[in-house]
Amino acid sequence: MRLLILGGTWFVGRAVLREALARRWHVTVFNRGRSGPPPAPVEHIRGDWERPQDLVRLAAHGPWDAVLDVAGTIPALVRNAARALAPVTGRYVFISTISAYRDWPYAPVDENSPLWEGDPDLDPGTRRWDPDAYGPLKVGCELAIRREFDRHVLIMRPHVILGPHEYVGRLPWWLTRISRGGVVLAPAPPDRAIQPVDVRDVARFTLDQIQAGGAGVFNLAPPVGRDTYEGLLIACVDVTGASCEIVWADEQWLKAQGVAEWTEIPLWRTLPTAWTMDTRKAHAAGLVCRPLRETAADTWQWLQAGGRPVEHERFAEHGLAPDREAELLRRWRLSRTTP
Ligand SMILES: NC(=O)c1ccc[n+]([C@@H]2O[C@H](COP(=O)([O-])OP(=O)(O)OC[C@H]3O[C@@H](n4cnc5c(N)ncnc54)[C@H](OP(=O)(O)O)[C@@H]3O)[C@@H](O)[C@H]2O)c1
Repeated sequence: MRLLILGGTWFVGRAVLREALARRWHVTVFNRGRSGPPPAPVEHIRGDWERPQDLVRLAAHGPWDAVLDVAGTIPALVRNAARALAPVTGRYVFISTISAYRDWPYAPVDENSPLWEGDPDLDPGTRRWDPDAYGPLKVGCELAIRREFDRHVLIMRPHVILGPHEYVGRLPWWLTRISRGGVVLAPAPPDRAIQPVDVRDVARFTLDQIQAGGAGVFNLAPPVGRDTYEGLLIACVDVTGASCEIVWADEQWLKAQGVAEWTEIPLWRTLPTAWTMDTRKAHAAGLVCRPLRETAADTWQWLQAGGRPVEHERFAEHGLAPDREAELLRRWRLSRTTP
């Protein structure tokens, strides 16, 4: 199997690269080389997907059975890559996102749920992270790929992805916070369902599908209701060995205090439908999701070993500052004692 990975050195790309090498595939990696060398010896072609001449140079290194576009976000650039690679590549595999669904997080979603409108030729002119533009941009990328590769397309739409090398900073924040111990503020209810997926499970399933010649769209996450917010925090306590008291504050009270869900308290989303992505299709096709505790343990081990993610603008968005948490805890306790 000859696989071309566009990207390959930050987070999801690292995991798919490792998985492909474990399968003894011939792997070519294309990126700018800014984030350091690939994490394993592979054919590394340096280039920028913003530069059409770099894509032409890349295509000359083909053919490949499949290209795996891990991180494409700008439709016009994904279109350029797909056009340049179509003559030398059998299939285009794309890591998309749950954010492609127009109704998420307001309704449960399956692979046939309506998507945002997307423009396959759009270049918004900025590369800054914008949560509102993210979904429509990814849909534009999907459309561009379909236009160039027709049915020879495999699209993965994962829910939140966690695991070693995560650079958004959700699980690293929770692990680091819990490891400090003391009284920890958490958003009630503890039995809130959550549905993050381990990066290595995303990688394994994607490569299984490439190997099996799979096509179409797959949602990727554990089954609805398997994991809970409390389970996540207990896993963090267990793997860090921290001693702490978790105080569950009412979610509406937290919102009234101006606490930003999703970012200030990572993975906290008040809408229950945020965690109702239907993933039965992928599970029937062989997706296996490891226990959340294993994800927490391996991420903690990576952090303890000095692991640092690539610098990313989204990292700073996540987490409560210690003094703000202490003040919120003080106010929450006061609200419970004053009639
Ligand atoms: N995090 C989540 O919870 C979540 C959830 C659902 C879906 N997703 C999706 O998962 C994917 C995450 O991907 P990732 O960032 O982890 O992928 P990655 O492949 O590990 O990292 C991005 C790669 O792109 C390269 N790159 C960046 N700009 C480039 C350019 N202009 N030209 C050439 N190479 C370039 C980077 O290397 P250099 O900097 O060295 O060039 C790096 O190798 C995204 O598609 C995201 O939408 C994430």
